[in-house]
Amino acid sequence: MNRGIFITMEGPEGAGKTTIIHMLGQALQEEGYQVLLTREPGGIPISEQIREVILNKDNTAMDSRTEALLYAAARRQHLVEKVIPALENGTIVLCDRFIDSSLAYQGHARGLDIEEVYNINKFAIGDMMPDATFFFDIKPEEGLRRIQSNGDREVNRLDLEALEFHEKVYEGYQAIINRWKGRFIIIDADRTIEEVFHETKNQLMVALKKQ
Ligand code: TMP
Repeated sequence: MNRGIFITMEGPEGAGKTTIIHMLGQALQEEGYQVLLTREPGGIPISEQIREVILNKDNTAMDSRTEALLYAAARRQHLVEKVIPALENGTIVLCDRFIDSSLAYQGHARGLDIEEVYNINKFAIGDMMPDATFFFDIKPEEGLRRIQSNGDREVNRLDLEALEFHEKVYEGYQAIINRWKGRFIIIDADRTIEEVFHETKNQLMVALKKQ
């Protein structure tokens, strides 16, 4: 059996990627593809428990390195328990956030340094880098405006950071995209959900054909 394909979805808060992943999952399943939708931090019980610790609004004392290590630990467990077995089974894995979130949020925005955070993540993931990564491009101000007007969405510890932090996250993503140019597919997310979905689906089909 062929190995599946590992696709990750990245972007600032409010880019709409979670909605798009669900639309993609449904569309691909209807076309007969075997798809796994999952998310980070989380996706399996141990990593969901770590997610609760990281994102708990009461954990204001959390040190940035602790935060980076917890994300990496959640990532390791999720990869071993869920992502790798699915890929070995020939499944298309669509993962809402992965290593690039750690590089942008902890590496750049928290100021830990992208290379340092990449190194601890290499320990967690080995050579399991994504085959392709979609970046949902939205300016932080617009993304935050969207999440503030979406009453259904959970508000977590990182959402509560100031606009300046989210601007740094965006800047971090630009540096990461520059470093791993070949892996990224950039989607302009400042459009309607339908427009973003159609473009993402078309680009995903191209990526699947390349496999
Ligand atoms: P989300 O499920 O709303 O995307 O929330 C996850 C939050 O965690 C979001 O604010 C981004 C942040 N995050 C990191 O800071 N580093 C990481 O490695 C990951 C996966 C997420």
